[in-house]
Amino acid sequence: MTLPPSTLKWWQRGVVYQIYPRSFKDTNHDGVGDLNGIIEKLDYLNDGTPNSLGIDAIWLSPFQRSPMADFGYDVSDYCDVDPLFGTLADFDRLTAEAHRRGIKIIIDYVPNHTSDQHPWFIESRSSRTNPKRDWYIWRDPKPDGSLPNNWGSFFGGPAWTFDPATGQYYLHQFVKEQPELNWRNPEVVQAMLDVLRFWMKRGVDGFRMDVIGLIIKDKDLRDNPLNPNPPANLPPNDLFSRLLQVYNMDQDEVHEMVRRIRSTLDEFDDRVGIGELWGPLDRWVRYYGKNGEELQLPFNFRLMQQPWSAQAMRASVDELEAALPPFAWPNYVLGNHDQPRFASRFGGLAQARLAGMMLLTLRGTPTVYYGDEIGLENGVIPPEKIVDPQGKNLGAERSRDVCRTPMQWDSSPFAGFSDVEPWLPVSADYTTRNVAAESTDPNSMLSFYRRLFWLRKGSPALFGGSYRPVDAPGDCFVYWRESGSERKLVALNFSAKPLRLQAGLSGKARLALSTHPDAPAGVTLDALELRPYEGVILDVEG
Ligand code: GLC
Ligand code: CA
Repeated sequence: MTLPPSTLKWWQRGVVYQIYPRSFKDTNHDGVGDLNGIIEKLDYLNDGTPNSLGIDAIWLSPFQRSPMADFGYDVSDYCDVDPLFGTLADFDRLTAEAHRRGIKIIIDYVPNHTSDQHPWFIESRSSRTNPKRDWYIWRDPKPDGSLPNNWGSFFGGPAWTFDPATGQYYLHQFVKEQPELNWRNPEVVQAMLDVLRFWMKRGVDGFRMDVIGLIIKDKDLRDNPLNPNPPANLPPNDLFSRLLQVYNMDQDEVHEMVRRIRSTLDEFDDRVGIGELWGPLDRWVRYYGKNGEELQLPFNFRLMQQPWSAQAMRASVDELEAALPPFAWPNYVLGNHDQPRFASRFGGLAQARLAGMMLLTLRGTPTVYYGDEIGLENGVIPPEKIVDPQGKNLGAERSRDVCRTPMQWDSSPFAGFSDVEPWLPVSADYTTRNVAAESTDPNSMLSFYRRLFWLRKGSPALFGGSYRPVDAPGDCFVYWRESGSERKLVALNFSAKPLRLQAGLSGKARLALSTHPDAPAGVTLDALELRPYEGVILDVEG
């Protein structure tokens, strides 16, 4: 369904920019990014002019109190800022400063598990009769002393840890320092909904909900079936990938909880719920709700899972468009703090520019991961410097540190991120790949991204129009984006060869943007020439 651009909500028209706070900007000389660092860089994100990116919302990965066993995804106090990142007063200032620039604030909400240092868990583990015992998922060993079921942790090993003091196991599908909350207990639900209210009262505009599909598990915690086609060469401790995720996620009853979360958001004006969801399309689409009463934006990660192929990308987009109920708004993601950088994944910077053009011109809300706009590639982390628990437990090639390296601001030591050795090494290319250098180069990735963001912002067809794919020969993804009398054609050449596009199109066209510098301004539609990995956005008359 196409809506008139004027009726779109901010989270439909806008671009979301994900900040991993540890790695954005350090202001207090400890090598770890902080909230004040984000405030310092708000003008970079949007100062209201095309010299900035012009983004509309930031999503901050966790900055709440945490012992950092999973770098903030193990929260020990949902309603406070970890001293490493600053204070609640800093957060309030960040919110005010962002809002002053028209930037909305989305924060991470980690509902599935707390830290084992959270006072709730400390109480819960203190005795079998503690009133908070049932706030977490405790089970007796099987009669033979073995684990309650066969579930594995995403980060390697079993999903159960034995607590000798009380003689039971507790469930954790991530590290053992992340015990899982029992959302079947109404007190847990109340406490967790209050967390949302706490932040909305402080001005937060939305939440990205961590592994939201996991919060309800099968009532009987049945064994998951074996995966008949597990990925090759799994490390022996990767029990998780050897199973099908049937009883631990996307249970029917989870939707009741998501609806409760949504009605809590709706107690306030215009807030957005974004969910981290990985399941197959039919399971995933249910998180919009039957009539839009669940999440506005279940994250769509499908493009990240595609090979470098125009056909594969188009098939993924078309499949998504077909699956969406009329009220549902699409969204696209190409990178985040858990995945290798797409500049590396897709094979290089030329591909990254083209992918960026696709992300920003599809119908739906794009989320851009910090650093992708300057073309950051995977960091090279020596094995002894790996800190990510997934990398430590499952092997260096699974380490997520590679996509969490410090933002590269300038060519000074430590890339202007910090003046001391940062928590993860700065990539070696920082002397040339940085915001300052790319700002002065009109052909840089950053200059390209800035033009792309502002073009999108000013174009109802791009931020709100319809999407219509065009059959195109070769490894080329071509689509119309249209709104009223505005018609834009996007043509993306995924191949390393030049291509003459003959897709039965005709008419006068003007080039709005190319991924390539020195692009010709005049183009004719009946013989559109695209260079290797070139993407163009054309304004078409009539
Ligand atoms: C999500 C987060 C990831 C984290 C995990 C456990 O997948 O994106 O970074 O490790 O949940 O909270
Ligand atoms: Ca700091």
